[in-house]
Amino acid sequence: MAASSKFAGVDFSQVEVEKLTPDLDVPGQGFRCLRGEFVTYWRQGRVQREVNALISQCWIIRFGSALAGYITLLADKLEVDEQILIKEGVQYHTFPAIKIGLLAADQRAKGAGSRLVEWAVEYIATEIAPTVGVRFVTVDALCDSDTNPPYDASGFYRKLGFEFAQPNQELLSSIPYRTMYFDLKPLIEQLNENLDD
Ligand SMILES: CC(C)(COP(=O)(O)OP(=O)(O)OC[C@H]1O[C@@H](n2cnc3c(N)ncnc32)[C@H](O)[C@@H]1OP(=O)(O)O)[C@@H](O)C(=O)NCCC(=O)NCCS
Repeated sequence: MAASSKFAGVDFSQVEVEKLTPDLDVPGQGFRCLRGEFVTYWRQGRVQREVNALISQCWIIRFGSALAGYITLLADKLEVDEQILIKEGVQYHTFPAIKIGLLAADQRAKGAGSRLVEWAVEYIATEIAPTVGVRFVTVDALCDSDTNPPYDASGFYRKLGFEFAQPNQELLSSIPYRTMYFDLKPLIEQLNENLDD
């Protein structure tokens, strides 16, 4: 099979998302990512080590035995300059959140990245928010100006409804990311309405 056709024609929008458990053996052979460090994180065991240490939990999508993408989730807090919930009578600048820690998709698996993020957002809304206060999903979107062309993952998250925590933040090469957040409340209200229909 030609390398470029490995995931050809696969619709990742509905593909099963599996939790990474000790009995799943997914070496990530042949996993290719736009950013090589995310291949290394998988192949050299960083993701598995963090799961073992309860630093994060990880979910994956596969096609056959081939890894198509992975995402990790962990506890976080969102800090913003504005009182973004003031209209709801909440005056905090800091809010409970779940963070997308690592996210990577095989560069040939179109749609795998958005499937993982959309799945994670819905999972947090339906499985975590009903039992633990969590209002936002956060991510430190990778922005690396040291590459040519510069690498910026924030456009990907913008398309999925994430906003910048500090919209006017100056980009510094010493901080190669921009924190973004997704508000779960409208989604939760929408899901509840669908249940009532
Ligand atoms: C970012 C990443 C996960 C996206 O995964 P993907 O499978 O390529 O994304 P999808 O195919 O689901 O793309 C969804 C949409 O986002 C767009 N998109 C993808 N990366 C983008 C970027 N960096 N900037 C703007 N738009 C982007 C796609 O073109 C697509 O647009 P469309 O719906 O109009 O067709 C993947 O490119 C990746 O693994 N990158 C390296 C690691 C990384 O940056 N991880 C995130 C760290 S915070």
